[in-house]
Amino acid sequence: MEPGSHPTLGFIGIGTVGTALVEAFAQNGYRIVALFDRKPASSEALAKRLSSDVLDADSPQQVADQADVTFLTVSDDAIVSVADSVQWSARNGVVHCNGAASIDLLQRAQRQGAMVGALHPLQSFANVAQARKNIPGSAFAIEASTAEFEQVLHDMVDALGGTPLSLHGSKVLYHASAVMASNYLVTLLELASGLWEHLGISQAEGLKALLPLVRGTVENLEAIGLPAALTGPIARGDVGTVKRHVIALGEVAPELLSLYKQLARHTLPIALAKGTIDSEVVERLDAALKEPRGGNES
Ligand SMILES: NC(=O)c1ccc[n+]([C@@H]2O[C@H](COP(=O)([O-])OP(=O)(O)OC[C@H]3O[C@@H](n4cnc5c(N)ncnc54)[C@H](OP(=O)(O)O)[C@@H]3O)[C@@H](O)[C@H]2O)c1
Repeated sequence: MEPGSHPTLGFIGIGTVGTALVEAFAQNGYRIVALFDRKPASSEALAKRLSSDVLDADSPQQVADQADVTFLTVSDDAIVSVADSVQWSARNGVVHCNGAASIDLLQRAQRQGAMVGALHPLQSFANVAQARKNIPGSAFAIEASTAEFEQVLHDMVDALGGTPLSLHGSKVLYHASAVMASNYLVTLLELASGLWEHLGISQAEGLKALLPLVRGTVENLEAIGLPAALTGPIARGDVGTVKRHVIALGEVAPELLSLYKQLARHTLPIALAKGTIDSEVVERLDAALKEPRGGNES
């Protein structure tokens, strides 16, 4: 790897993340030299789309032999076995994209002399088109075995229009945070939009109506942050409204009641920090949330 020049890249695992990163790097000045996937059709199709110079490799080893930096964009559980199936050397850089694991997964490659790293896009790659759209502006967590390789990964993130974020050691909490903010938001919206069926409106229509609210909330979080972005009955101290929610959910969707109450309880300190309710209102809200049907307050 020449300092200051872009390393050549190879990818093993041509799924959603592999395809999106290959396309994004190719469009931003990096040369992709080899691709491999256990389904040959995946790597063959992408190699053809890129250029005739890209090797549609027959094995992970061929990718490692061609590329300065090899990305292991296979599923999390396959990273160690794929990495350990390759003979690496000091001319290799090896990177995985698992957000919950450190570079320890690549210990064997490191022992063989390779520089190892982890590059995790803090973004939801639901499909390639959405991923390509969302990559610019996303944070990317970076960990590397050497300062030199960390700089190589920083430069890659800069080229993609992302924001590098240096993380060292255990990344499990970082990943749990990402899952809460992204995956469980999807879960929350599935549950929230499902309630619209009780209003005689389809879940799809409900989701469509809720999305501008979600977008507005995210924009508020971006513009004014926490706790200022909190609105709603808990921020206002409307105990009666919260009680009516509890009663209504208890009647039509009792399976959601404990989740609603848990989230409401976690919202109390946010409202207190915002300063729109005082501790006396917090106590009344808390009491309403402890009652099976919201307490006696109207
Ligand atoms: N999706 C996201 O939002 C996201 C975000 C950040 C980071 N990541 C990380 O990115 C990595 C890839 O995730 P992904 O969502 O792109 O997964 P994916 O769409 O399932 O792609 C993984 C690809 O690797 C192939 N593969 C699996 N085992 C292999 C092996 N032993 N040898 C060769 N190819 C193999 C898979 O083939 P099959 O289809 O046959 O299994 C598939 O084509 C993971 O480490 C993940 O944690 C994902």
